Amino acid sequence: MKKTILAISMAALFFSCAKDNSQDAKMNEFIDKLMSEMTIEEKIGQLNLKSNWTYFQTNATLPEEAEAIQQLKEGNMGAFYGFTNMQQIKQLQEIAMQGKHKIPLIFGNDVIHGFETSYPTPLAISNSWNMDLVEESARMAAKEASSVGINWVYSPMVDICRDARWGRIVEGGGEDPYLGGEIAKAYVRGYQGEDLSADNSVMVCVKHYALYGGAEAGRDYNSVFLSRQEALNGFMNPYKQAAIAGAGSYMSSFNEFEGIPATCNHYLLTEVLRDQWGFKGFVVSDATAVNEIIAHGIGDQQEVARRALQAGLDMDMGSDAFVKTLKKSYDEGKVSEEDINKACRRILEAKWKLGLFEDPYKYLKEGRDSVEIRNAEQLAFARKIAQECQVLLKNNGVLPLKKNAKIALIGPFADNAKEMEGAWAMSHRADENVTILQGVKEALEGGSVTYAQGSYIFEDEAKEESVTYGLMKMFRPDMEFPSVHPLPQSTLLAEAVRVARNADVVVACLGELNNMSGEGSSRSDISMPDAEENLLKALKATGKPLVLVLTTGRPLLLNWENENCDAILNTWNLGAEAGHAIADVLFGDVNPSGKLTTSFPRANGQMPIYYNHKNTGRPHGDTDPYRKFVSCFMDVENGPLYYFGYGLSYTTFEYGDIKLSGKEMDQNGNITASITVKNTGDREGKETVQLYIHDIYSTSTRPVKELKGFQKINLKPGETKTVEFKITAEELKYYDHDLNFVCEPGDYEIMIGTNSNDVKTATLTVK
Ligand code: BGC
Repeated sequence: MKKTILAISMAALFFSCAKDNSQDAKMNEFIDKLMSEMTIEEKIGQLNLKSNWTYFQTNATLPEEAEAIQQLKEGNMGAFYGFTNMQQIKQLQEIAMQGKHKIPLIFGNDVIHGFETSYPTPLAISNSWNMDLVEESARMAAKEASSVGINWVYSPMVDICRDARWGRIVEGGGEDPYLGGEIAKAYVRGYQGEDLSADNSVMVCVKHYALYGGAEAGRDYNSVFLSRQEALNGFMNPYKQAAIAGAGSYMSSFNEFEGIPATCNHYLLTEVLRDQWGFKGFVVSDATAVNEIIAHGIGDQQEVARRALQAGLDMDMGSDAFVKTLKKSYDEGKVSEEDINKACRRILEAKWKLGLFEDPYKYLKEGRDSVEIRNAEQLAFARKIAQECQVLLKNNGVLPLKKNAKIALIGPFADNAKEMEGAWAMSHRADENVTILQGVKEALEGGSVTYAQGSYIFEDEAKEESVTYGLMKMFRPDMEFPSVHPLPQSTLLAEAVRVARNADVVVACLGELNNMSGEGSSRSDISMPDAEENLLKALKATGKPLVLVLTTGRPLLLNWENENCDAILNTWNLGAEAGHAIADVLFGDVNPSGKLTTSFPRANGQMPIYYNHKNTGRPHGDTDPYRKFVSCFMDVENGPLYYFGYGLSYTTFEYGDIKLSGKEMDQNGNITASITVKNTGDREGKETVQLYIHDIYSTSTRPVKELKGFQKINLKPGETKTVEFKITAEELKYYDHDLNFVCEPGDYEIMIGTNSNDVKTATLTVK
């Protein structure tokens, strides 16, 4: 029997390889011929990507004089960014098809957490620890986006971030490279589907390559100072896993690494990405990143374009540096035809793999968008995924709420559709998001809810205005915006206290505005904004049970909140169905199961803070009192307020001890680590069981703990399950000082538990 299965699978493998080879041969033959007919200028034109802001997100037919049309007609465009209207996309594709070589365009877009139906932000989604949901979110977004003709998404963003000051932490999967790698694979599978050339699959663009999340002090676009070893061990795995999963393209990042901007960094773009990981697709620069190499101090436009191309960059987004200078560099013998050919070929290959040469209009089926966009299936999924991203940070029993309770729902986020959205809501319909008030109203059975705004975000109106309208004013300087503090703060506060006093329980909906995280939104102080903090203190003073529902793009400092609130539910930004999903958890229809993928610091000065840190030669416990001459602070303990992997449930789980199938393992062997987990409460619940390892002695220093596996299980009340993790040398490998990826012999601690700070331990010897 086994032999037959083996024979069948060998045959299947042979035929699929043979099919791939014949497909590749066909593609190569086609592209060889096409390129042999193209001039050097036409090839350079393929390396250019632009947007057209004037017509961006309008439904207008593009006029002849539109820059997009002009550049396209001149043959200076291989791809467009930002068009979301099917008619415009069709119009541009038709013009491209009138060109001499009929080379179709690809259309890229920032589809970051859903297209028109917004799902939770990527950071929120990572807190689900549910890879099926990650994959499904990408699949659903691909269906929506492709229905208007978008075939290339600027996602997943897989930058590891250890510093919550960085606003772009909201776009990624948190601080851990193993989890980040699993998430990256799930996104690639979801977006690209089983068949990249299907008309509801889209090509991914993995970003921001590389190490953008390592920006010093969390200040956006700042330099990254990491050793190669630390970069490879702590940050690079998600990019690597995306390549292994077959990602079609990458986006180079804004930051420098080892003194060379990533966009012209040969080590990153060629030696690691292509030579080591075998990536075969193309790399596009981040927006205007080629021109930004000038400000980095590397050279003028001609020089930086040459450097970028020769380092391994294939497409220039928004700088026009390739179209303006590469021909000159070619004439002067500074770049070769081969340099240009390589990049052009990779872009044409992507177009081929998407199936665009066969049918450039394949996505553009009249009426398809109205069927696919924001349909019932999309919205149901938006609610399902939002339920699983929420993290219960504290609960003294006040949650779940009773449906017949008298609830005071207070705060600037309580009845605020737009602010449920999070960063990158370019194509979303943020005003249609379900508010928390709406969700609570619909869920009540016999109870009541009274709403009061309670506060603004900041006490300082000018500060609030700049955060609220800053971005919009950049694009619409001509527009007038309404006041952000129309009433005195004291009026809002007095009303909130009155409403709170009349209720059984107060639910305070506070947090960060969408614009406070995302690109260009670093904060030096990640405290709760002052007006909201003052509101919370006034609500506490009423003596009513106090639940904090947090809407945020990043971890915040929650020391006071943790001491004084009866419960804290961190919802991040949940998107279209936020209000329903929050009510589902608040009233216990859904048992919360999210766990943090980022540490929540106690103080700004602790950042960067991450669970997989090194021990140092003078270690100090996470919660020990201050001692001189050990690695700690005088004024705050070392550990975070909430640990990586932490999150409560309405039920409780009890872990048994770890059982290893063997105490010793060969380099080619494997062992199974197992543990029992029991639901000891009275509700059904989901638990993410986490496996960590630690190499006790190694030729280089190693983190105190590293995540190497996880499983999310469902347990009925009283039910016990045994969770098994297979451990091989692969899980124990790391990049040593010489950058060899090795598993070193010796003793390893194998840890399994409910979060990174609460684990059982066993020892394994590797020979
Ligand atoms: C961002 C990218 C984004 C690109 C296009 C850049 O500013 O860094 O993440 O994909 O713009 O919008």
